[in-house]
Amino acid sequence: MVSHMYLDPDDEQILAGEQGETRQKMLELLVALGKVFGAARLVPIKSAQVSGASYKTIGEYGLQWLNTLDAKAVVPAVLNPIGMPRGRWQEMGVDPDFAKKQQAVVAAYERLGISLECTCTPYYLRETLIGDHLAWSESSAVCYANSVLGARTNREGGPGALAAALVGKTPCYGLHLAKNRTPQVVIDVQIATRDWTPADYGALGYHVGKLVGNRIPYYTGITPDRDQLKALGAAMAATGAVALYHVEDVTPEAQKNCFGISHLEKIPVEVKEIATIFREVPVEAVALGCPHCSPDELGTLARLLSGKRVTKPFYVFASQGVIDRNHRDVEIIEKSGAKVYADTCMVVSPVMEQYTGIMVNSGKALAYVPDMCRAVARIGTTEECVRVATE
Ligand code: F3S
Repeated sequence: MVSHMYLDPDDEQILAGEQGETRQKMLELLVALGKVFGAARLVPIKSAQVSGASYKTIGEYGLQWLNTLDAKAVVPAVLNPIGMPRGRWQEMGVDPDFAKKQQAVVAAYERLGISLECTCTPYYLRETLIGDHLAWSESSAVCYANSVLGARTNREGGPGALAAALVGKTPCYGLHLAKNRTPQVVIDVQIATRDWTPADYGALGYHVGKLVGNRIPYYTGITPDRDQLKALGAAMAATGAVALYHVEDVTPEAQKNCFGISHLEKIPVEVKEIATIFREVPVEAVALGCPHCSPDELGTLARLLSGKRVTKPFYVFASQGVIDRNHRDVEIIEKSGAKVYADTCMVVSPVMEQYTGIMVNSGKALAYVPDMCRAVARIGTTEECVRVATE
């Protein structure tokens, strides 16, 4: 543990208040965080992703705090999903009083130079490379950045990520350091996973997250693709606090971290442990896109919904950038009666609280919907979700 952090002349200038009070306070926050976690210095970041964006989660106090700040982001920075689609909130049925407050939150972030992409999948919008230092705060995005992209970020709180965006640096501790990225537990999946979908990987992550807590798992016996990795990590980050995992022969840092795994605790996972997660409960609505859909996921959904009509409310969530680049798939999906919304999601939008049973294809949503939407959640594959919504 170091009690003194190295600060360069630019940092000292900011701390002296020469770049305004907001930036001074933000750097004080980063230095305090760094001292708590034993950081020796700050590290420049390539981008920030800022949570605390939905009025549903930050409330009046959070909005007032944002309005006291006066500075501009100095690195590319995006916002986490907010409580409504900015352009289509009336169509989604959002209460006008909530919309007004949400618009005020968005305006506050815009004033701070945070890009209003409002997504938990910023990696579909801007290239993130192996070894990039980041300050991201949404837990699934953090897990994806560290594990799948090989970038480096701690699981930042909203204020920490915002401070990093306004200063352009973050304290260099935890997962920014190679020595803290080695596996701590082996997950030996003893299941034939060749036909697995993202929902199956979401269920696996839902199960494993509860077992490993905040340790770094090293998986053997699975060969997930990128959408499946996204689902796996998001679920582990929700039921546990996993911010980094490795998959043998799949993720970028697995190879260099495989030495010594024979000495680690090894947890086997069998088919019956995953099968019990797929229990059937009554469903009033279907909500997909947790984390926000990839282009491939929109394509799969368009294929499954083509020529069909949904008989239940059917929500799909993706970033505006992914929606714009895949508008033909979006048109097919919406022709079925389903809605593809940007900026928000089933967990942070108050609209989902009207349903008592919500079907999802995500282990993370399965974990969060009961508390955040006060609804029973059911997980199924995307095919099963479409079947239930069109029967
Ligand atoms: Fe993203 Fe909302 Fe899920 S923020 S990871 S879609 S809970």
